[in-house]
Amino acid sequence: MKTRTKFLATAGMGLGLLLSTTAWSSNLDDWMDIQTDRCIDRVYEAISPDDGALGSVMASPSKREPNYYYHWIRDAALTMREVWAWRDADPQLAMETLWDYAHFSRENQLTDNLSGNHTDKGLGEPKFHMNGDAYNESWGRPQNDGPALRALVLMPFAKYLLDHGKESQVRKKLYNNDLPARTVIKADLEYVAHRWKDPSYDLWEEVEGDHFYTRITQWRALQMGTEFAKIMGDEGAEEFYHKQALKVHKSLEEFWNEKKGYYVATLNRTGGVDYKESGLDIAIILGVLHAGAKKGAFSVFDPRVLDTAIALEKTFQKLYSVNKIKKTRSGDVLAPAIGRYPEDTYNGVESGKQGNPWFLATHALAEFYAKRGEWDKAEAFILRSKTHSGENGRQSEQIDRNNGYMKGARDLTWSYASFLSLMRAYHP
Ligand code: NOJ
Ligand code: NOJ
Repeated sequence: MKTRTKFLATAGMGLGLLLSTTAWSSNLDDWMDIQTDRCIDRVYEAISPDDGALGSVMASPSKREPNYYYHWIRDAALTMREVWAWRDADPQLAMETLWDYAHFSRENQLTDNLSGNHTDKGLGEPKFHMNGDAYNESWGRPQNDGPALRALVLMPFAKYLLDHGKESQVRKKLYNNDLPARTVIKADLEYVAHRWKDPSYDLWEEVEGDHFYTRITQWRALQMGTEFAKIMGDEGAEEFYHKQALKVHKSLEEFWNEKKGYYVATLNRTGGVDYKESGLDIAIILGVLHAGAKKGAFSVFDPRVLDTAIALEKTFQKLYSVNKIKKTRSGDVLAPAIGRYPEDTYNGVESGKQGNPWFLATHALAEFYAKRGEWDKAEAFILRSKTHSGENGRQSEQIDRNNGYMKGARDLTWSYASFLSLMRAYHP
């Protein structure tokens, strides 16, 4: 990947300014600025590596134990979302990167794979080799959050292009009204609109069924898709996406479990692992953040989402011994390190072991509280993430639940992307 010009953008300055008006430790304030800059660099390092196709995104440079050297649709979309959101760091590079990603994504869509092909279920394929080849081994497939997340990055990009006089490029490459779809966004929206009811594997690639995370990202994609279709004069699609969006939204209600007092991750399990009895999962918070509703049900201000966040914090506080340490040496409060879900048995290399806290899960709770304006609470989670980060702010996938050292795939791109997403809450 081409190197970007050093990040000195207004974003960092705005952050410093904002924080200096609060009583926060300047130490953490500085670290957040530095870490933001590093995360932008590392996200770019993960994109279009020399031996990968243009627009591909490695989930991690780790090629064995575990091998994460693949383009996962979900990780890539969440990464590109940050590239685009932080484009001020290097506008030209961000623009080129999004175009590369859009082209590579269309290639993915057109590549026959074990989920199917582009005329049926192929868009649900969760990952590809970095050169774009299909991954022809057994896996938890399909994963139907992928097309929704991809559309959620590419629509704002396309909107920007439209606003800058690039309509013909958009119609040619990103969204054309023709059916069968022959452009990347249109194909994803059609897939989501027609297949959101299908059971699929969850974002953790383990359970087949109906998932809150998948549904809420599908809802948001269809809602945004409705507006986008309207802009493109695609009236039939506008109406159809709107109808489906309402139905998906309604189906989200079913995930509330009154007895448990939180939203559960999965309903109607049809396959995959069966031991996630609590249903408690950071996937709920991630879904709320990635869908980004500003208010009301399924937003960060939904009291039921808050109940879910509190249940997660309590559970992980007790579960991981690393969380017994509740203050830093200088006396600042450390919130607990957060995992995916309490029954997790994946230690970063293999399943059937002890699960651990994850950086991206800990960042999710920080972002959740920051978006609610509960800054001190957010700070305690950020401090937790900082405490377990390696030299130069390196972040793998996991944090050992007993000794606090990093575990699992090194330099997980999603760890960095999730930190950038969190930092955006500080200067919207
Ligand atoms: C099992 C993990 O639990 C799952 O989340 C992961 O995607 C796969 N192994 C592949 O690493
Ligand atoms: C395992 C995670 O469970 C999954 O969500 C992710 O896509 C892959 N690792 C790659 O990071």
